[in-house]
Amino acid sequence: MELEQAIKQRCSCRTYLPTAISDEQIYKIVESARLAPSSKNAQQWKFVCIKAKKESHDIADIMKNYYLNNKDNEEAMKGAGSVYSTGLILDQCPAIILVFTDSERIDRTKVEDTSAVLSIGAAVEHMMLTATDMGLGCLWIADTYFVRDELADYILDKLKGTKYESFINVNNRLLCAMAVGEAGEPKYTRPRKSMEEILCIINN
Ligand SMILES: Cc1cc2nc3c(=O)[nH]c(=O)nc-3n(C[C@H](O)[C@H](O)[C@H](O)COP(=O)(O)O)c2cc1C
Repeated sequence: MELEQAIKQRCSCRTYLPTAISDEQIYKIVESARLAPSSKNAQQWKFVCIKAKKESHDIADIMKNYYLNNKDNEEAMKGAGSVYSTGLILDQCPAIILVFTDSERIDRTKVEDTSAVLSIGAAVEHMMLTATDMGLGCLWIADTYFVRDELADYILDKLKGTKYESFINVNNRLLCAMAVGEAGEPKYTRPRKSMEEILCIINN
C-alpha cells in the first residue's frame, strides 16, 4: 500500500474480530516503531505486547473499574469520559501494545520530557500506519493515563520472575497503548478541520 493510501485508510477501530495476531505481525508493527525518529536519537520507548486473554481482561478491568469507582467524582472523571468504553475495546481486541517511556515523570517544563512524548507519538503513528498497511484495524489509546501507575505495577508484577524481569522498571512510565487486530467494523471516516483552519503560509 502506498503511504498516502495508508494515511487515508487509517481510522480508529473500536470493534475487533477474535482472530489471533501472530508474533510475526507484532514484530513487523514494532519494527516500524523502532525505525521512528526520536529526539537526540534517544529511542525513549519500550513496548509490552499483551496477547494473553487473561491479562487483556485484567487490563480492561483496571480501566473499567476506574470508571465504576469514580463515576460520581467529578474531579477524577475530568477527561475520563471514555475510559470505560476504551476498557471494553481492550477486552475484545486480540493484541494490546502498551507503550512505556524512559522518562520518570512527564513534565512539560522539561525539554527532554516533551521530546520523549513527541518521539513516542512518532513511534505510535508509525505502528498505526504499518498496522493499516497490513490490513489490520488499530486504535491509539491514551485513556490508560487514568490508571497508568496501576497498569505499570500490574505489568511489573507479571514480568517478575520471568526472563523479562528487568525489561521495564518503576521509572518507565506507561504513556499510552495501541489496540490491534482484524477489524470487526467497516472503516469510518471522521470529520476533519479544513486546510484554511489549520494552515497559514508566510511567504515573503
Ligand atoms: C493520542 C491519542 C489518544 C487517543 N486515545 C483514545 C482512547 O483512549 N480511546 C479511544 O477510543 N480513542 C482514542 N483515540 C482515537 C481518537 O479518538 C481518534 O483518533 C479521533 O477521534 C479521530 O478519528 P480517527 O482516528 O478515526 O481518524 C486517541 C487518539 C490519539 C491520537
